[in-house]
Amino acid sequence: MIVVTGGCGFIGSAFVLGWLGPRAEPVLNLDLLTYAGHPGNLAPVQDDARYRFCRGDIGDAVLVGRLLAEHRPRAIVNFAAESHVDRSIADPLAFAQTNVMGTLRLLQASLDYWKSLPAAEAAGFRFVHVSTDEVFGSLAPDAPAFTEQHRYEPNSPYSASKAASDHFVRAWHHTYGLPVLITNCSNNYGPRQFPEKLIPLVIHNALREQPLPVYGDGRQVRDWLYVEDHCTALEAVLERGAVGETYNVGGRAERTNMQVVHALCAILDELRPRAGGKPHADLVTHVKDRPGHDRRYAIDDGKLATELSWKPSIGFEQGLRRTVQWYLDNGDWVESVTSGSYRQWVERQYEGLAPTA
Ligand code: NAD
Ligand code: DAU
Repeated sequence: MIVVTGGCGFIGSAFVLGWLGPRAEPVLNLDLLTYAGHPGNLAPVQDDARYRFCRGDIGDAVLVGRLLAEHRPRAIVNFAAESHVDRSIADPLAFAQTNVMGTLRLLQASLDYWKSLPAAEAAGFRFVHVSTDEVFGSLAPDAPAFTEQHRYEPNSPYSASKAASDHFVRAWHHTYGLPVLITNCSNNYGPRQFPEKLIPLVIHNALREQPLPVYGDGRQVRDWLYVEDHCTALEAVLERGAVGETYNVGGRAERTNMQVVHALCAILDELRPRAGGKPHADLVTHVKDRPGHDRRYAIDDGKLATELSWKPSIGFEQGLRRTVQWYLDNGDWVESVTSGSYRQWVERQYEGLAPTA
């Protein structure tokens, strides 16, 4: 069996569902169920004998040690993290706590477990750490995309905490021999993404006739990857990746934020026209920029493509349409996750951000 951490979140839940689709091999999901974790994301497998869930903290080394000894996984895929840049600016310590100290304690427990395994099992064991392209910092408009050799230059509390965790994971391989692999992926989008991130926030607000907040001039560039393609990349890295290596994962779909927002508005105009027929793009509102906002990310996925034969299968326009349709079909999910604490966050984050255009 394998252990997944953070499996009730956006990418983790897509991974678990994708994993259990064609496989008999069970998954144990360890998730603390923070505001971002929803057991309902895994409703399709909740009664499946191959799926087990434990509510707990990756930073609880005693719990993790017990789970590993009991379930004897052949791999751990670590998704658990605080993941939203704006929240990291508002509350950086929570990011150090989970992303740095949590990962460190998870590594410690994993190392103890790995050392206890018979030689054959130890040789096959893998620890996959799911990280981000944001550790590389910001690219100039005409600079080549990030390769695995790009230096680490994290600019936000979030990316600094992920960079720190990557360094610890690397060190646990170099110093203690733990068989680790690290992935650095670009912006994901798709079903079940919490509506604090750009794409689900825009869909959510547009459906409620609320302003669509664009930070600064909206010309920041991200490289968008449909979440299921990220999951197939992680499967490839887990099954065929070289121990100790890092792999960049990207969507080959660089878009400015304005392009993304306008593409969403056009799809919504078609699938859910506004009463009165005005375009959704009329709701776009430029607001104060994010402090330290990275201008551009872009991924060179050549290593993953060449060595592990992976490529994304879902184009950006196709994936965006699927995503909008999912949110239109799953209003109950959105209602259930946008509880009181969500509303408080939105009020704090967007109130007082005066429109600048
Ligand atoms: P998410 O915020 O949707 O989900 C995070 C999950 O981790 C939640 O289920 C939460 O309950 C759980 N969690 C948080 N702290 C925990 C702890 N201490 N112990 C156990 N569980 C805990 O995040 P996501 O967007 O699915 O991202 C998953 C991972 O992928 C993160 O490590 C993130 O840095 C990385 N990543 C995300 C993206 C993206 O675009 N979303 C891109 C590249 C990499
Ligand atoms: O690059 C990978 C990273 O992508 C992941 O590691 C992070 O976990 C994930 O949150 C994401 O980070 P971003 O900061 O790029 O994603 P976000 O959806 O928050 O913002 C995307 C872009 O849109 C960014 O330039 C900021 C902008 N934005 C975002 C919000 C929430 C707006 O203009 N308005 C908004 O209201």
